[in-house]
Amino acid sequence: DRGNYRHFMAKEIHEQPEVIGHTLAHYLDLTAGCIRLPVTPSFDWASLDRLSIVACGTAYYAGLVAKYWFERLARLPVEIDVASEFRYREPPLPKNGLALFVSQSGETADTLAGLRYCKAHGQHVAAVVNVPTSSIAREADVVFPTLAGPEIGVASTKAFTCQLAVLASLAVAAGRARGHLGIDDEKRLVRALGDLPGLVVKTLRLEPRIVRLAREIAKVEDVLYLGRGSSYPIALEGALKLKEISYIHAEGYAAGELKHGPIALIDEVMPVIVIAPFDAIFEKTVSNMQEVAARGGRIILFTDSRGAAAASVPTLETIVLPDMPSEIAPLVYAVPVQMLAYHTAVLMGTDVDQPRNLAKSVTVE
Ligand code: F6R
Repeated sequence: DRGNYRHFMAKEIHEQPEVIGHTLAHYLDLTAGCIRLPVTPSFDWASLDRLSIVACGTAYYAGLVAKYWFERLARLPVEIDVASEFRYREPPLPKNGLALFVSQSGETADTLAGLRYCKAHGQHVAAVVNVPTSSIAREADVVFPTLAGPEIGVASTKAFTCQLAVLASLAVAAGRARGHLGIDDEKRLVRALGDLPGLVVKTLRLEPRIVRLAREIAKVEDVLYLGRGSSYPIALEGALKLKEISYIHAEGYAAGELKHGPIALIDEVMPVIVIAPFDAIFEKTVSNMQEVAARGGRIILFTDSRGAAAASVPTLETIVLPDMPSEIAPLVYAVPVQMLAYHTAVLMGTDVDQPRNLAKSVTVE
């Protein structure tokens, strides 16, 4: 049931405060200020030598954000790959390795094959899945559910942010167990996670600005998304969302890679969308924006009030999100890129919920 929304995708974007809150309620004890996982893992975070994350598409980008979190918060070495590469690479795996599979449907053929490979090679196997009865959920040793509810729109939105909510909780749990985070760090991060539903509500209120921006995007043929650190996967996700539902060509790049090739594309036409909350590496992204501006490029900046004040670069648009701790920013910055793709696609008149050539669940290789 779409309710009052024109498309399932719009409904699912707007459901995010609720489903993120619902998911987090199963992972956080807000009163005690600590993580409380819904299941006891069959492995010990402290003794892991490596985490291998395997997924496809949007779920892969959730895993890519998680790589930054697990490395930073838990000092756990992480390797990540798309399932279709991972399974055929047949990578060597460490003795004390955890393999983590991220999937909305739990039926993606390549992800499932990667899971079976890891099981056969002695890894602890965990899954972050939205469909509890799925093959991936059944075959994993331990399942960390996302509670996003059924996702109908082919383009993943609420499943993605719920995956991030679960993965962030796991990274904090790992950080505590590995002795890298103290009780106060845990309290601070749990409070930050608990603030997410409210921050997403505030971010959804930017929709009228995003609709105006979509009118500009609907006129162009190519869009470049840039981000650094944990904003890099959000740049990739923004580009994927836009191309899959509006059919506008879009690419996501690590901002530092700009000068290694894509800078050749900068002109007065192609919008450059920069995902840059004010964080420790913000200034580095500003220098990339200066490189774009110096070549007459059109910059659309998603940042917060501190970033807007500090970015000494002319932009076509600066969209100011609420201030928040930088660890949780990927979850919140996912929302405006979803809305931008959605409204651009609506203006283009595409079939938003059923984009051409795409299937909700990819059960063939
Ligand atoms: C993009 C999208 C796909 C899926 C991918 C994996 O919006 O929905 O990229 O993320 O096909 O699907 P799951 O998560 O079901 O394994």
